Amino acid sequence: MRTVVPFNAGWVFHEGDDRFLQSRLTSGKNVELPHNAVDLPYGYLDETRFQRPFTYQKSLQWRPEFEGRRVSLVFDGAMADSTVFLNGKEIHAHPDGYTPFEVGLTDHLHRGENLLCVRIDGSENPGIPPFGGQIDYLTYAGIYRDAWLKCTSPVSIERIRVETRELPDPGFSASVRCDIRNGEQADEPIALTASLRSPDGTVISQCRADATSRDDSVILSFGDLQEISRWDLRTPVLYSVDVRLECMGRHDQLDTRFGFRTAEFRPEGFFLNGRKVTLRGLNRHQSFPYIGYAAGRRAQERDAELLKHALRCNLVRTSHYPQSPWFLDHCDRIGLLVFEEIPGWQHIGGDDWKRRSLNNLRSMILRDWNHPSIVLWGTRINESPDDHDFYVRSNDLARTLDPSRQTGGVRNVTRSEFLEDVYTMNDFVLGSEGSSAAPLPGGNRPRTALRHPRDVTGLDRDVPYLVTEFNGHMFPTKRTDPEERQIEHVLRHLEVLDAAYGSAEISGCIGWCMADYNTHKDFGSGERICHHGVLDMFREPKPAAFAYASQGDPGDGVVMKPVTFWARGERSIGGSLPLVVLTNCDAVAFRFADGPAKTALPDRSRFPNLPHPPVIIDHRHISQGELECWGKAWYDLFLTGVLEGKPVRHLHLVANPLPARIELTPDSEELLASEKDLVRVVVRALDQAGNVLVHFNEPLSIRISGPARLVGPGIVPFRGGSAVFWLESTGETGTVLAETRTLELGRSEVRLRATRGPERGD
Ligand code: GAL
Repeated sequence: MRTVVPFNAGWVFHEGDDRFLQSRLTSGKNVELPHNAVDLPYGYLDETRFQRPFTYQKSLQWRPEFEGRRVSLVFDGAMADSTVFLNGKEIHAHPDGYTPFEVGLTDHLHRGENLLCVRIDGSENPGIPPFGGQIDYLTYAGIYRDAWLKCTSPVSIERIRVETRELPDPGFSASVRCDIRNGEQADEPIALTASLRSPDGTVISQCRADATSRDDSVILSFGDLQEISRWDLRTPVLYSVDVRLECMGRHDQLDTRFGFRTAEFRPEGFFLNGRKVTLRGLNRHQSFPYIGYAAGRRAQERDAELLKHALRCNLVRTSHYPQSPWFLDHCDRIGLLVFEEIPGWQHIGGDDWKRRSLNNLRSMILRDWNHPSIVLWGTRINESPDDHDFYVRSNDLARTLDPSRQTGGVRNVTRSEFLEDVYTMNDFVLGSEGSSAAPLPGGNRPRTALRHPRDVTGLDRDVPYLVTEFNGHMFPTKRTDPEERQIEHVLRHLEVLDAAYGSAEISGCIGWCMADYNTHKDFGSGERICHHGVLDMFREPKPAAFAYASQGDPGDGVVMKPVTFWARGERSIGGSLPLVVLTNCDAVAFRFADGPAKTALPDRSRFPNLPHPPVIIDHRHISQGELECWGKAWYDLFLTGVLEGKPVRHLHLVANPLPARIELTPDSEELLASEKDLVRVVVRALDQAGNVLVHFNEPLSIRISGPARLVGPGIVPFRGGSAVFWLESTGETGTVLAETRTLELGRSEVRLRATRGPERGD
């Protein structure tokens, strides 16, 4: 039977790539995967520090279970160019930082101690996608995802692909393609049994097929499946199929999860299970402060949760590369749609480069084709120019490997050759004309949120169309930026969302982007950060995050976020009107100090298409005299969100905010000692009413005792009222105490439990 166990612990890490490391285990730094080769500062980071070679070594002792079996290592991802040596001999090379690779060890293992050595080169080698031009993100060197030790029988199941089909009568059928790997090249009979299981694990149908071990692949079919629950956004029901192979008295077994659903982009929008869904999404980079790409399962799942439950998106684009399997698995689990694309950014290289890019496409699809969350394959290098032959090939390849999904190709130029199924466009038109108040000299168009698809495609017919980016560099906004900029940031996101909701021909829009990210010197704000997120790098929200969140159904959570620091003198000329309240309430009741209570309604005239337009409180509701002007006293504001006539949310913004307390919120109270677990702890400085003190930028010192390590510096500034650190497991169990101290508010603490959790595989 197959075993696949984690192979993350016990690596020895070295700077550089001395040849002798390939054949001699040498003392270095003991590390566990996922691993980032270089500890990073928050900003002003010099990327040349990791654009060079590093080496990982690990001893692998022969085990009795290797006898007569196929042994391999699977790396989920290592940046950027990996070469694997076993006992001094090069056995595998993988020149890509985003796709997985499997290294066969069987023929090279000694019965005794074996030395594995992985050399990774973090250089931006122009021969490897996405490199060769400038890219607006960083590619952090390291074996930054999990590694696995896999043992199978010599004739084994290479992979399975499940394709479901909706039947007219109604019901579903499912076919399971099972690719066979025949290590012995023998021609032996094999028997395959596929079991289809419902979400609770009950077998609901079984089928069998006979073949020989020389067959490359066998299809097992499940006919008329009735009473199937569909995978949908609200009910992401996951079935599984396991295939058992028997050959010469030996077995192998592989399972996968999948869902029954239909997904189709049409000229009139996107349809999930036949129902039209306007896509509302954000682009995601997989990077984090301090650790780059080396974030394991918890952080990956947390990002998916943030997108689905905090930002209330229904889709994420994995810009600009295949992302962690943990992330995608969680998208399946929670019902978050995914547009996944190949590595690349604007630049297309020569023939070898293109061949590698097509390999990346193949590898991405083979890895991810069973995820019900994935509804579109990105077959084009993000924002690259047209390249007829290359993109004919990439689209053919995607359609051949997976005829069940459509393709998209993200461009930023109009009238580009349409070879995909969905015209996917980065429409950055908003802002290119200057603001309505101050049009750019020479600007010849009024403020425009999105272009009409036909103006973009240049075609004389409607085609499936999706906006894949907007905003971003057109209006970078830091969490600490002034209130007026936050408002404009919010409005720009809302305007594009409104335009997408209002267009029958646009399937939806995906904002740039979920979270700020470190980048090259050629982009960003000078400290090598692009402040393009609706969250900052630590995943703390800017007001624009609530532009998305407030579009969610109030039944899933009430949102009411006024875009204000509530101060007399923050804005130019003073005051706080117009006051934009991002909310999914039916109305917002408000009053200043002891003044009369008033009510304002969502602004449907300005945002006619949004599910939940913001409430905008202005001189329609308050006279100049009521709020008074510069030189007069400032008062508290009380807001109440009203839903179906009932108060559902209260907010009190104080006129004299003072530091009242520090709040420490860990993402989890449990740290898993059995793996390299990371728990994020958010520290917020709050005023008397529990609001974040947005101008609190004091130093915070952090001290950890017990079985956890601090990730990041021990003294950090609050940024916009919050500071974030991570706790990393040490492998030990017990109570972890995190203590923080600020000058103004003294000591605070939080305790976590480090527990064994599931058994460490290796
Ligand atoms: C796009 C690009 C993104 C990001 C964004 C910033 O052109 O595809 O990766 O750079 O601009 O707005």
